Amino acid sequence: MAILITGLKQLLTFKGPAAPRSGRAQRETGLVLNGAVLMEGGLVRAAGTEREVMRHPLAKKARAMKVSGVAMPAFVDSHTHAVFAEPRLADFSLRTQGASYSDIKAQGGGIISSVRAVRKQAAAKMVSQLVERAGLFLECGTGTIEVKTGYGLDKNSELKTLKAVKSASARTALEMLPTLLSAHAVPPEFKGDSRKYLRYVLAKILPEVVSKKLAVFADIFCEEGYFTPDESLGYLKACKQAGLIPKIHAEQLSNYGGALAGAAAGAVSADHLDHAGPREMEVMSRAGVVATLLPASNFFLGLSSYPAARAFISQGVPVALATDFNPGTSPCWNMQLVLSAACTHMNMTPEEALCAATINGACALRAGDRLGSIEPGKQADISVFDISDYRELCYYFGANLNKLTVKKGKVAYCRKL
Ligand code: NIG
Ligand code: FE
Repeated sequence: MAILITGLKQLLTFKGPAAPRSGRAQRETGLVLNGAVLMEGGLVRAAGTEREVMRHPLAKKARAMKVSGVAMPAFVDSHTHAVFAEPRLADFSLRTQGASYSDIKAQGGGIISSVRAVRKQAAAKMVSQLVERAGLFLECGTGTIEVKTGYGLDKNSELKTLKAVKSASARTALEMLPTLLSAHAVPPEFKGDSRKYLRYVLAKILPEVVSKKLAVFADIFCEEGYFTPDESLGYLKACKQAGLIPKIHAEQLSNYGGALAGAAAGAVSADHLDHAGPREMEVMSRAGVVATLLPASNFFLGLSSYPAARAFISQGVPVALATDFNPGTSPCWNMQLVLSAACTHMNMTPEEALCAATINGACALRAGDRLGSIEPGKQADISVFDISDYRELCYYFGANLNKLTVKKGKVAYCRKL
């Protein structure tokens, strides 16, 4: 049955090409006042002013929902590590005492401590935990997330993670696009031999992931002490050859060469980019790589510097924003906090930040043709916030302003009155 949402004070459609928005185009929200959205069969049929939408032939028979607030495409959170067994509270306490991310790794914490927990976790528990977490994303207005492996780091546990994403997807309205991040760190049994470990991943894990269609993307953590730019390039090329779309964790802790390796491998996005400079920006702009910036991790790590969003935008690199939800650097699933951090610490305008959290996030997942904007024919993924002006979403922080999440034309979350 068709559903008609009316009563919207503002509607941000982000209508336009199914391509990442960069430069000035990243400021275009497609704002409509007194808006309405008509959907049917999981797709948007009409979006515009209430008067326009009411003229559509399906509007008369539709179930009408009057929802006062501001509607926009449900957030597309294009970078998460949402499958982890336990929070890293011991690491967190150390950090409050001044330990850095690298200090914690040196003391046996960090990624490897999550690996121990994930390897032990029963598959059924992993699934139920992910379903529960999916509910939290929906509650905050997110309709789609990307989910990485990378806390298993052996064949069994990486496959267990990907199968958990698949099983959980059948039990939640949240859409989850899986990424193989077996190249997240070198597991202890490989004793620091990163090349040998990558050969193992390519020979033993990748073929099964591809043949069982368990992942869409492949990612690698390109950083000193993890994997080199050379290794990253070779690894991502091999994954691409096998059918996965490359992504890369690049220039997070140092300027190390990940962004250039990603561009050379045909990555759809390079993510983090705290230490990227003009050269990286120029190459990414030419290669059409989306810069996915993750300021919630800077916030959580207590860093005083943030990725140079303004420079990326003025260099013509499309910017996406994501939570990086993970137990080590960003235990945050709320894109609204990310919007706040992007505007207050990275000088993005509210318009740019909202574009980054919707259509550009969708493009970072090669899904800009069906997600990230509210236009006829696109998937009906819509969130409505309890505000009168869209800028309030970037202005108020620390609260959840979402009141309604619609996924594929169905109510996936509705705030209790
Ligand atoms: O995106 N940088 C690598 N991966 C994560 C952190 C992983 C962890 O500490 O568990 C990130 O920040
Ligand atoms: Fe990450």
